[in-house]
Amino acid sequence: MKITCIGAGYVGGPTMAVIADKCPDIDVTIVDLNAQRIAQWNDDDLSNLPVFEPGLSDVVAKTRNRNLFFSTDVENAIREGDIIFIAVNTPTKTYGVGKGMAADLKYVELCARQIAEIAHGEKIIVEKSTLPVRTAQSLKTILSNNAKNLSFQVLSNPEFLAEGTAVQDLYHPDRVLIGGDQTPEGLKAIETLTSIYARWIPRERIIQTNVWSSELSKLTANSFLAQRISSINSISALCEQTGANVSEIAKAIGTDSRIGSKFLQASVGFGGSCFQKDILNLVYLCRYFNLPEVADYWEHVIKMNDYQKRRFANKIIETLFNSVSGKKITCLGWAFKKDTNDTRESAAIYVTTALLRDKAEIHVYDPKVTPEQIYADLDYMKQHHRSNDMTGIAGDMTTKELKDLVHVHNEPYEAMDKAHAIALLTEWEEFSSYDWEAIYNKMYKPAFVFDGRNLLQKDKLSKIGFEVYTIGN
Ligand code: NAD
Ligand code: UGA
Repeated sequence: MKITCIGAGYVGGPTMAVIADKCPDIDVTIVDLNAQRIAQWNDDDLSNLPVFEPGLSDVVAKTRNRNLFFSTDVENAIREGDIIFIAVNTPTKTYGVGKGMAADLKYVELCARQIAEIAHGEKIIVEKSTLPVRTAQSLKTILSNNAKNLSFQVLSNPEFLAEGTAVQDLYHPDRVLIGGDQTPEGLKAIETLTSIYARWIPRERIIQTNVWSSELSKLTANSFLAQRISSINSISALCEQTGANVSEIAKAIGTDSRIGSKFLQASVGFGGSCFQKDILNLVYLCRYFNLPEVADYWEHVIKMNDYQKRRFANKIIETLFNSVSGKKITCLGWAFKKDTNDTRESAAIYVTTALLRDKAEIHVYDPKVTPEQIYADLDYMKQHHRSNDMTGIAGDMTTKELKDLVHVHNEPYEAMDKAHAIALLTEWEEFSSYDWEAIYNKMYKPAFVFDGRNLLQKDKLSKIGFEVYTIGN
């Protein structure tokens, strides 16, 4: 048996590397149109892999060119693969019908058309990307109208890994979900895919459903997770007005086993490529199916997140005597969470944009994110942000002006030298081990710290002399 995966990104790369590790008898080929990305996956120097994930380079080192292959030859991989995973990106549409809400399925459709054109014989096509419910129907329509001599089944097998813990999550998932047609052929395909995961995952953790439940479970899971963060963040605002402490509340409610303790960390706001995208997609679907109350309900999870990011940026501006113009603000962290180099939808981008609009001078340090990525994120924000009211320097600042105001450092102390304030935006652990006394001595006074992750020890910093703002306390 051979496996092909189209899309060598944050999902395709780690997922297939773990399958290759656990199934040494199966050849796994990951293909991508992006030649640079494939070259990075094939780089002898494993620190150049395009995705940074703890433990990933070890798995790639063990499997690459044994039974794991990275290639740009999409056609050949489609021809050879018995199981073809589609793990391409499905971003929010930035144009036309559904702009700013619906998932853009053009990359998925392209894969389906290419499979239809090239594939022969028997194939199992697996939706690994996160897709709106009923996408499998569109794939089937494209395939059956265009393919020749192809007998196929479409399965939904959404991925639940979180970045930063992807490798752990893939080796020890809470569950694997496989949806397929409830026909003899569909059930057989479900069983084939199940037997692959069953090599390392107990069968009782492999959930089999119909296709629509599987597709919709993924959107639902992400919406529930994001909802918890918006819920605790909403309470953090009330804590700040009342003297309650959001961390104490999270602990107090989290010990109720019905609520559970995970995902109750108040923050500057959730980021990442998926939570916002998937909720917007869910909201769009609800409106499409004429369920406005359901759509409004879920849309508030995003509105609360926008509010939290805006609230944090405004807090900085207000505290610095209502203007940050010409002041040096240091952003510690740019990634959307620790242990990843991914910056998509990172709260840091929004907070920085709001500060730039107030003419701050921004200095950034992140242990894993490159300057090119940071400038690209700000540029993207200028062009594509879905709502202008959020922060949007949109349009009114040239790329050059932006670069003049944003400085990226590869050393943290230099980034904080002579700063007016520090905004901690990603919970990288190294931040808590810095010499905060030395940092204090080199900052303008009052020296402000805005801890958007409640990572630092507030008492210790206050004792040094810092003015410290934390979320919900
Ligand atoms: P990504 O942008 O990192 O990777 C997608 C890759 O697909 C890119 O390298 C792109 O060049 C490639 N691609 C696009 N069209 C192609 C085509 N026609 N042929 C060949 N290659 C093509 O995206 P990602 O983060 O890996 O996410 C992929 C999907 O998985 C999305 O639907 C996402 O919602 C879902 N997902 C992501 C995560 C996550 O943590 N990032 C977790 C679970 C699910
Ligand atoms: C999330 C889900 O956790 C995965 O199950 C899912 O597969 C994935 O989305 C996806 O579909 O892409 P990910 O976005 O990688 O994973 O990371 P999370 O750990 O969920 O964090 C998302 C954001 O929420 C981060 O910005 C994080 O800092 C923030 N967060 C998380 C909080 O602010 N508080 C918390 O308690 C937890």
